Amino acid sequence: MNLVTLTVDGRPVTVPEGASVAAAVATVTGVFRRSVRGTPRGPYCGMGQCFECEVRIDGRISLACLARATPGAIITTDAGTL
Ligand code: FES
Repeated sequence: MNLVTLTVDGRPVTVPEGASVAAAVATVTGVFRRSVRGTPRGPYCGMGQCFECEVRIDGRISLACLARATPGAIITTDAGTL
């Protein structure tokens, strides 16, 4: 099995090749984004419909459930914000 290493909120994460960014983020935190009231949100549908899994991938807002983990990608979540 080939592995891919990327960074989630500054922490290196290694997942199997072909795994989603959501899988990589879930190994670090359950908080992908926060609502406008600060409520922590995470993946719900897993198929690009609910937008609850928004993260930044290399600075661009993306849906973690639809994005494949790529080597060296920098993922940023709202886990550390209130
Ligand atoms: S989990 Fe619903 S859009 Fe990603």
